[in-house]
Amino acid sequence: MVIRFPGVNAWAREKSMRILVTGGAGYIGSVVTEELINAGHQAVVYDNLSYGHREAVHPSAAFVKGDLLDGEALRGVLRENEIEAVMHMAAFALVGESVTHPAKYYQNNLVGGLSLLNAMRECGVKRLVFSSTCATYGEPAKVPIDESLPNNPTNPYGESKLAFERALKWFDSAYGLRYASLRYFNAAGATERCGEMHDPETHLIPLVLQTAAGAREEVQIFGDDYPTRDGTCVRDYIHIVDLARAHILALGILDERSTIYNLGCGGDGYTVREVIDTAREVTGREIKVRMAPRRPGDPAVLVASSEKIKRELGWEPQFQDLRVIIQSAWDWLVAHPIGFQVKKW
Ligand code: UFG
Repeated sequence: MVIRFPGVNAWAREKSMRILVTGGAGYIGSVVTEELINAGHQAVVYDNLSYGHREAVHPSAAFVKGDLLDGEALRGVLRENEIEAVMHMAAFALVGESVTHPAKYYQNNLVGGLSLLNAMRECGVKRLVFSSTCATYGEPAKVPIDESLPNNPTNPYGESKLAFERALKWFDSAYGLRYASLRYFNAAGATERCGEMHDPETHLIPLVLQTAAGAREEVQIFGDDYPTRDGTCVRDYIHIVDLARAHILALGILDERSTIYNLGCGGDGYTVREVIDTAREVTGREIKVRMAPRRPGDPAVLVASSEKIKRELGWEPQFQDLRVIIQSAWDWLVAHPIGFQVKKW
């Protein structure tokens, strides 16, 4: 058993658990699975492969192809594997698409999520770590954003995640389901095995690196007239391994209570231009940019205060230098030029 975190609740690191990872074939879920296995837990991945990649599932994890809306399949997996906790990452996560197709987001992220909660309730599984988002805050009243700020999502993606969080609160008080809701800021970077390969890709860092690799002509900068240090949007990039490790720490609190944590590196964040400049430095390649209009719904600055999870669980990001994050994503891209070999970019 690997002990990595001096600050972790002893229960979480000493007890090997049987954990269901929904969305474990996706970008974040595959790394969470990898870290669970590294930490000595047993993982069962449940994913319908609508966006995930079978090849991304850790070879030591069991894999079940299934949909969140299939309650019978979920109950079967929970019972057969004697699951003790669920990490729920299966969701649609394209902000722009959620605006044009909200039905898809409510159906999968909320109705599908409720189907999972009902299956857990019927099978007596009472621990859940939920993959939430800073999109619950919308345009924040102040930065850094802490968990006390009001929720005011500006798109159906954020709304669907917040609606699920609200259901969690009532499932806790009525049924004793304990949850830790982790509100991610901008997940980025890669491990040696797993990296970011969405289709379509909308995220800044993979688009920038694909441009550096010559797979794209140029990267667009969506707006340079924001009230920030260089006019482009500021975001809080968090390495996927730091993010994944927070999930393992969060397991430790679930026997005591439910809670919500922000997850980012804080500080000053990085502007879009700083990300592109750092990618130029890391890759040594030219990256052509083109100015484009603002992307609707983009807040100027999103930077987390993660003091709560640091204080309560001893979480500390280990890879907060943007160069390290981008280097890991670049190394993965160079080693996997056609991703998981199922889709070409
Ligand atoms: N950007 C560009 N050009 C691109 C892509 C992105 O300039 O081609 C900019 C965006 O406008 C934004 C920044 O780069 O300012 C980061 O954009 P991403 O799409 O990589 O990430 P977001 O900050 O939009 O999204 C993140 C999470 C979402 C979450 C959202 C909340 O990935 O899950 O924050 O606003 F919903």
